[in-house]
This record gives sequence, C-alpha cells and structure tokens, in this order.
Amino acid sequence: MENNLIQQLSETTAHIRSKYNEQPLIGVVLGSGLGNFTGGMQVECEIEYSALPHFPVSTVKGHSGKLIFGKMAGKNVVVMAGRFHYYEGYTPQQVVYPIRVMKMLGVKTLLISNAAGGVNTSFKVGDIMIIKDHISLFIINPLLGKNEEALGTRFPDMSEPYSKDIISKAKSIAGDLNYEVKEGVYCGVTGPTFETRSEYKLIKAVGGDAVGMSTVQEVIAAAHAGMKVFAMSIITDLGIREEDNIITHEEVLAAANEAEPKLTAIFKGLVGAL
Ligand code: HPA
Repeated sequence: MENNLIQQLSETTAHIRSKYNEQPLIGVVLGSGLGNFTGGMQVECEIEYSALPHFPVSTVKGHSGKLIFGKMAGKNVVVMAGRFHYYEGYTPQQVVYPIRVMKMLGVKTLLISNAAGGVNTSFKVGDIMIIKDHISLFIINPLLGKNEEALGTRFPDMSEPYSKDIISKAKSIAGDLNYEVKEGVYCGVTGPTFETRSEYKLIKAVGGDAVGMSTVQEVIAAAHAGMKVFAMSIITDLGIREEDNIITHEEVLAAANEAEPKLTAIFKGLVGAL
C-alpha cells in the first residue's frame, strides 16, 4: 500500500504519542553549536530520530539527532536536537518533515536558531541577529508538488512569516539581559560551499544581512501550516570582508559556541513569555 504524506505523518505522530502523550505547544530547532538550550529543561522523554518511522536520519557532525520533550518555565516544549539540511542530500520535503510532525503534535509556535555568515558590514563575529524576513536564494521550495490541504493552502501568503509580536518580545528580553541584538534579513542558500566573494556581494546587494544554509525551508513549511515563527542567527563569520575571508566549519562552530549562552537565554525568556 502506498503511503501518502499525511498517513506517514500520522504514523510518526502515533509512535511519538505511544511514548509521550503530552501536547507540546512550542517547538525549538537547535542549530550548529546551540545544543545547550535543553540544559534548563525538565526532560521527560527523548526519542532518537532513527527510532521514528518515516523520519530522516541526521548525518552532520555536531548534530545529534533526537526529539527531546519536556517542560521549560512550566510550558510543554519539543526540541529538535539536530536538523536536516538540503545540502546533506535530503529532499526539501524530508528537510521539513519534522516541522510537520511538530504541527501534528500540536505545536503552535516554532523557535529556530542557526549559524549564519554576516553580510551587513556593521556586523561582528559573535553578534546575534533576529531574523525579520528572509530571501530564498536558490533554495528549493519544500511546498513544490502535490499540496496537502490538511496542512495548508496551495498558495500560502509569505508577507510576514516571522511573528512581529514574538520579535518585539525577544527585543525586550534581550534589553533586560543587556544584550545588543541586531535585526536583519536572512538569505537562504543551499550550501555546502560557503560563498564566493562575488556571491557575498550579490547577497548584500539584494538586501541580505546574513546568509546561511538552513531555516528557510523550515520556515516556509511552518508558515504553510499556520505556525507562528521566530528565528535568530549567530553571526559566525564575515565572508563579505575582502581580506581574511577564508571560512571554515570549525570557525563557524567555535563562534556559535561562544555566542550560544546569549541565544539560549533569549530563547528561554521567550518560552516563559509565550
Ligand atoms: N555562508 C553560508 N552559510 C553559513 C555561513 C556563511 O558564511 N556561515 C555560517 N553558515
């Protein structure tokens, strides 16, 4: 018998419910080097991706690959520790599969983090940036193909995929913590190459403040499914600079680790405030 998407999602969701039957309202996607978020969480259940029917399996160093369920600030949350990137060879539909599972589990709000290259010349390595909008640059849209009306409409609006309300809460939390926080447009690329010097210039010219290899497909799927989204980047390198612009994955992870406590504090504040 052929499985359609909704059937697969139902099977994954049923498997999760057989292990953990509470309804998470907030979903969190942890990006590169941002794994400490779960430190302050009362973990109630962990499920490896490999144990979940129809779930893709994570391959990248630094991405562990499990769903973590529990409570933070009294709220039920589900955390994706390890995400799927298009550059790993997954289809766009596989990349967003976990987002759709979160939707089926009852998640209303999605908090997403990532590591990104700084393109705005006023940025420094270690800055944190609230994503106010994105530009999909050569990203394959995950909604291509048959539309599942049960998930969302054929032609979804994308005029405001990032919740203004959550952005303003995040700014006020960052202010209380005395953190400087940037705000900008995230350009999504496929990777896995970092950009050429000319590509960084292109991204700057089209209005990007940062560039990265994740997030955009996830946000599209979440917006399609009617979820509220908030996303933040850690600026891990400055490819836009003419000099000194050789970028390594190690450097990206190191910078992400360094800024991690700030992002984690803002995300925890948001969970409390939502
Ligand atoms: N480009 C694309 N993706 C990235 C970068 C970058 O400079 N830094 C971290 N992720």
